[in-house]
Amino acid sequence: MLTIALSKGRILDETLPFLAEAGIIPKENPEKSRKLIIATSQPDVRILIVRATDVPTYVEYGAADLGVAGKDVLLEYGGNGLYEPLDLNIARCKLMTAGVTGKAEPKGRLKVATKFVNVAKNYYAEQGRQVDIIKLYGSMELAPLVGLADKIIDVVDTGNTLRANGLEPQELIAHISSRLIVNKAAMKMHHQRIQALIDTLRNAVLSRKN
Ligand code: ATP
Ligand code: PRP
Repeated sequence: MLTIALSKGRILDETLPFLAEAGIIPKENPEKSRKLIIATSQPDVRILIVRATDVPTYVEYGAADLGVAGKDVLLEYGGNGLYEPLDLNIARCKLMTAGVTGKAEPKGRLKVATKFVNVAKNYYAEQGRQVDIIKLYGSMELAPLVGLADKIIDVVDTGNTLRANGLEPQELIAHISSRLIVNKAAMKMHHQRIQALIDTLRNAVLSRKN
């Protein structure tokens, strides 16, 4: 059995067409079903539905053999317990700092609100800047508006969410897209099978680009 961990929403929507190219089609619509384990047209392939931030955990510990996760999630997760053999080039966005439009930085220590605590620590450490990092789980845009933080670190695509809240994108931290990730032991044990799937997905990604 090959087990693939995916999160509902844009990753699932954009990954299913690639899996279809490999002949893997869910037996029921994962967006509608309340089931968390979805059988596919291939009797020995199943899909697990997990939170986006949990995908690397399922794959690193081998509860799933493969998964698809945003590079933002992978940067935050850290470590080298996973293989990352393929950039699927989907769910593209940028990890950025943002702050209130036109507002100067405070003189003292910067307060930064984010769900990407490790990314924030590394980013400011590289700059030799001491900052207070405030962990949030969502609605980061609110923090600078109500004085909880001076800046946020979040993913930005069109910039509409920032603009709608009177914020502006500032420094670019990383370009983001979603990656296929593979459990290290699974890669050894089922090498031919997983490599064949990676090759099919790579061709699907390349043909979509052209
Ligand atoms: P969770 O449900 O665990 O809070 P999430 O809400 O971040 O996770 P999604 O919104 O489905 O989950 O995002 C999945 C991935 O898509 C993110 O990790 C990021 O890489 C990318 N992403 C997030 N927002 C955007 C966006 N507005 N445009 C393009 N890609 C995005
Ligand atoms: C993501 C992210 C930003 C927004 C950025 O939210 O958390 O708020 O997209 O995109 P934009 O620059 O195009 O506005 P999403 O729409 O995925 O909702 P979520 O908060 O449920 O993840």
